[in-house]
Amino acid sequence: MARRTGTTERGSSAEALRLVGVTKVYGAADNAVTALNDVSVSLPTGSFTAVMGPSGSGKSTLLQCAAGLDRPDKGVIMVDGEEMTGGTEAALTKFRRQRIGFIFQQYNLLPTLNVLQNTILPLKLAGRRVDEKLARETLERVGLGGRLAHRPDQLSGGQRQRVAIARALVAEPRVIFADEPTGALDTRSAREILFLLQEAVNVHGRTVVMVTHDPVAASYADSVLFLADGRVVGRMVGPTVDAVADRLAHIGDPVHAQMREV
Ligand SMILES: Nc1ncnc2c1ncn2[C@@H]1O[C@H](COP(=O)(O)OP(=O)(O)OP(=O)(O)O)[C@@H](O)[C@H]1O
Ligand SMILES: [Mg+2]
Repeated sequence: MARRTGTTERGSSAEALRLVGVTKVYGAADNAVTALNDVSVSLPTGSFTAVMGPSGSGKSTLLQCAAGLDRPDKGVIMVDGEEMTGGTEAALTKFRRQRIGFIFQQYNLLPTLNVLQNTILPLKLAGRRVDEKLARETLERVGLGGRLAHRPDQLSGGQRQRVAIARALVAEPRVIFADEPTGALDTRSAREILFLLQEAVNVHGRTVVMVTHDPVAASYADSVLFLADGRVVGRMVGPTVDAVADRLAHIGDPVHAQMREV
């Protein structure tokens, strides 16, 4: 662990995430599924990347492995210049809590805790100092300043997802992973969540990696990675809704299968 590369003046690496030859196989022998097949990716600090591809192409597996929630069978994952792969379960958990935030489609808030308590929970779990002022300010910023004492079941879906974003932000992670964060939301709530993710990148310098099926959501990112059959089959910088929809429609075509440029 703790191999460092290319450190900048702020003490963080210019490269937020690097995957080298990451392979993940589920199941054994005759029913084995190769969910990720030799994936290599490099994402700079302060980038907003959307991950797209057909159902079953390995998007969630990619996020789970890159976030340290699952272990690849082969390959190396570097977060902010430090190697994550290897080590004990406890070491992996510590690494994750210090550097990674995760936003799920179904929010994953604890039902018995209120908004403020949910937001500071990751800091408590990590044994870190709880800056309640920062937590309140963050909740204010995501528009929940008046809801601190509400429980998740007293909030709308969009509000719950904003708690999840605040929870990810207060831990000041190097990389925030979001798996279909707008998948359960109406158009307007989805747009608010996408603006907040953009703000996390543009104002606060975070790095965001977001899985989505929606070309509109992907157009908020600054680049899109396309997956098919567990491989990266393309990358689009400056995505527009139409260009993304068009690429998705042809993702299985032979011409795109040859475009393994990443
Ligand atoms: N825990 C698991 N056990 C066995 N196979 C799995 C497991 N998780 C995923 N897979 C398989 O790995 C492949 C990739 O799954 P993954 O969930 O990463 O796809 P996805 O791109 O996120 O799809 P979706 O868009 O439907 O969410 C699929 O074939 C899936 O069936
Ligand atoms: Mg998925």
